Amino acid sequence: MRIYERYTREQIEGFGLAGELPKHIGIIMDGNGRWAKKRFMPRPVGHRAGMESLHEIVREAHCLGIEALTVYAFSTENWQRPVQEVNALFSLLTEYFAKEIDELDANGMRIILLGDIEPFPDKVRECLKDAVERTKNNSGLRFCIAINYGARAEIVRAVRNIVKAGAAPEQIDEELVSRNLYTKDLPELDLVVRTAGEQRLSNFLLWQAAYAEFVFTEVLWPDYTPEELRKSIKIFMKRTRRFGRVVG
Ligand code: FPP
Repeated sequence: MRIYERYTREQIEGFGLAGELPKHIGIIMDGNGRWAKKRFMPRPVGHRAGMESLHEIVREAHCLGIEALTVYAFSTENWQRPVQEVNALFSLLTEYFAKEIDELDANGMRIILLGDIEPFPDKVRECLKDAVERTKNNSGLRFCIAINYGARAEIVRAVRNIVKAGAAPEQIDEELVSRNLYTKDLPELDLVVRTAGEQRLSNFLLWQAAYAEFVFTEVLWPDYTPEELRKSIKIFMKRTRRFGRVVG
């Protein structure tokens, strides 16, 4: 287990990242299957390589001092994959936390889950709940895992909660909806990265991405290195964000 020092301002500037870094980065980790296929390997081999990649990227986000990183690990649509692949993803998740939780915790990271983990097998659910519980008072990187997550389902859930709480129509505003989403305590989403060439959101953080910048890369997720993350951030930092206003 290792403690990773944050980069100094000089180091960050040395990466060409002088200026305001994104506070919250979302990543659609795509391309594990293609990575495996290129090597004539079964798809779970790609997911395992993707897990290694995730380890590096979480560490890099921490060292850069990013406030929140949200990764799309399992969508509500992923249940439609072959059962062997779904089970392989579950085993990887439990393996990931068994291996990583001490280090994530020791480095002050807080695990947050976005999605409904109730339908998951007991073992997976327990290990996810333990990770959340164990890290809940940490104040470093908020490492958010979107798991059995779908943005439309998230919005429906928020609306239901608002109705259940008895809100009157005129009390319902954007602020109230935001407060009923899984991301309620997170900073605004600044940047969405999608690997492996596809240019779509696939039901990921639809509400939160309203003013986010998108960076798409051809790199397959298992090949997405800390250097690639810094490249994506550099592209983000060159953009002018107007939030609907006129700037300059
Ligand atoms: C998309 O690639 C990736 C996923 C559906 C799963 C992501 C999972 C991991 C990175 C592994 C472990 C995760 C955690 C949180 C420990 P794809 O299978 O759709 O690739 P393809 O489009 O090339 O087929």
